[in-house]
Amino acid sequence: NAELTILGLESSCDDTAAAVVRGRDVLSSVVWGQTELHSAFGGVVPELAARAHAEKIDLCVAEALDRAELTLRDVDAIAVTAGPGLIGGVLSGVMCAKGLSAGSGKPLVGVNHLAGHALTPRLTDSLPFPYLMLLVSGGHCQFLLVRGPQAFERLGGTIDDAPGEAFDKTARLLGLPQPGGPSVEAEARTGDPKRFAFPRPLLDRPGCDMSFSGLKTALLRQRDSLIADQGGLTRQDRADMCAGFQAAVSDVLQEKTRRALDIYLSHDPVCPGFAIAGGVAANQGIRAALTGLCAQHGVNFVAPPLALCTDNAAMIAYAGAELFALGQRDDMTLQAHPRWPL
Ligand code: KG4
Ligand code: ZN
Repeated sequence: NAELTILGLESSCDDTAAAVVRGRDVLSSVVWGQTELHSAFGGVVPELAARAHAEKIDLCVAEALDRAELTLRDVDAIAVTAGPGLIGGVLSGVMCAKGLSAGSGKPLVGVNHLAGHALTPRLTDSLPFPYLMLLVSGGHCQFLLVRGPQAFERLGGTIDDAPGEAFDKTARLLGLPQPGGPSVEAEARTGDPKRFAFPRPLLDRPGCDMSFSGLKTALLRQRDSLIADQGGLTRQDRADMCAGFQAAVSDVLQEKTRRALDIYLSHDPVCPGFAIAGGVAANQGIRAALTGLCAQHGVNFVAPPLALCTDNAAMIAYAGAELFALGQRDDMTLQAHPRWPL
């Protein structure tokens, strides 16, 4: 496995990406973000995303090979996200990978986007199986027990919105730029997390399920009552709302992580590691909360570098390498799946 050189393609949401990974070395990782394309619409517009992926994916591949100073002849396989995601984007990636595979004779490996996130701690920190992880992004939020490259057990997750979606919505409600996560986090730095009350949903219920849609509703109510009272929002009002919102998300993730660790540790006295991945794992406040919790439990905490937490193709190339090593080979019948639970 250490010697495999894999080209990876990713196009399932609003980032077009290609990367070359050799063993655990990321030789190149190119990400063409579409944030600006969608910024006027308040969310990702699937048709615009699909067109941009179709226009950019081949350029990203060429750039990734170029930066790695390799050609297609030098790779062992081509790994591509085959879902879940916006189907037009996934199709662009899958079709491009099929073309590259047909043209070069190199094997094709279809990868689940979530498996890409879930295996990232092995790329960055060689975390051994099994480990626990929190996958937390704009579209997903779940606790996974990762036993192998194809063996995932879901311990619980959100029953409504993903936290990244809630961050994005919060930014929109407060007039902050997208993606919402980084802008809300920046505002929160100068805010008072205690000024506004935010709920901590489902903490009274057992298990690891979470809910985040109530946070948006609370924020909307507070915003509107401030606007009614004082005619608008001050910079400090925004900062305090962001701080309160972020503290609530962080508390919920921390408490539910405590439960996931308890579930794991009740079966096995030693948990080899707890990892986070997905765009929201870039949040420093959330990272700090989970770092502290893992330290209390004596569990090794792994948080990949930010560029490998958000969507990228290095994680797809790496997951592809693990699957390729297990013997997975796909052919021209590889399908793009809009839904594909782990
Ligand atoms: O994993 P990702 O790039 O795409 C998928 O959703 O699969 O995650 C993007 C999400 C967005 O909702 C974005 O607002 C959020 O991750 N995000 C953050 C931060 N950086 C990105 N959320 C909170 N804090 C951040 N620093
Ligand atoms: Zn993702």
